[in-house]
Amino acid sequence: MINLFEFDNHVIDTSTFDHLLHGQIVSDFEQQICEYVGAKYAVSFFSASYALYAIMKSSVIQTPNCISIPSMIPPVVPNVLVDAGCDIRFTNDIDWIGGSYVLTDGVVDSAQRLDRNQYKDECDPDDLLVFSMYPTKPLSSLDGGVVVSNNKEKIDDLKSLSFYGMEYSENSWNRIQKQVGYKAYMSTLQSTIASRNLKTLDQKYDRIDEIRSVYNREFGLDNTSRHLYRILVNNNQDAIPYFKDKGIVTGIHYTPQHLNPVFEKYLDEYGEHFFHMDVTIPSRKFLSIPLHHKLSNEEINYIIQTVKEYNEKNNK
Ligand SMILES: Cc1ncc(COP(=O)(O)O)c(C=O)c1O
Repeated sequence: MINLFEFDNHVIDTSTFDHLLHGQIVSDFEQQICEYVGAKYAVSFFSASYALYAIMKSSVIQTPNCISIPSMIPPVVPNVLVDAGCDIRFTNDIDWIGGSYVLTDGVVDSAQRLDRNQYKDECDPDDLLVFSMYPTKPLSSLDGGVVVSNNKEKIDDLKSLSFYGMEYSENSWNRIQKQVGYKAYMSTLQSTIASRNLKTLDQKYDRIDEIRSVYNREFGLDNTSRHLYRILVNNNQDAIPYFKDKGIVTGIHYTPQHLNPVFEKYLDEYGEHFFHMDVTIPSRKFLSIPLHHKLSNEEINYIIQTVKEYNEKNNK
């Protein structure tokens, strides 16, 4: 079976950890991410979801009471915003997928993209840029999230929130609690894997970029994501079992959240009318095909040929 994503496996010996949860590697990894994206400060979390939650709850970061997010998004995003007490609205942006989008003024959700110098090239000094280390994401680990910024005050507050409200001190017995926070820090294990994967990220990107160019040429597309490669099919629900029968795992990114019974109340009837044409109908035609560094040339050719055959048969 050709998988949609691939994870680089690691053998980890926990007896080498200097601390089971808060080892030196956690801050080393934060420093490595800063260097990679060109930012001054970083704070790591158990997941990007927790990072977004802490941003919404921080008393030093200004966020509005209502935030608009694309409807085609993983449900974890509306989930975390609503959980943090934020009202949400959906937008009809269906193009951000596989990249980043502005969550709110000064906060960019880049869970699906992590590029060299991204902060330096694209952000203002007070901006917060949020990355995810979910296993399928470009820089993967066993979950994880990082927020970078050049604003130390914001990062320090997020550090405190990630560490159940404690003020940071080198000596853990000297830490004092200054606010209510969350047990949401990135662990030694997560940082070890993320740090190892960061070392090979550029090499992985070289191969992904190569595959994406071949796909773009063969499918006449101009896709730019290093996370997802979406093609158009007649009906993605029918396509998934077809490709599975051919030994190719495909996916849907994403089912619109205004159709999710939990979040449908955030779209009124007037909005529903336009979203049907702008989001619901197009969403049925997007299919993600495998895009990862472990694909062989034979597999790439097989995927391309299978997609072309499918679309010829099904009259895309
Ligand atoms: C755009 C976006 N934001 C946030 C998240 C949450 O990331 P995590 O899985 O690390 O909590 C995801 C995860 O899929 C995502 O795609």
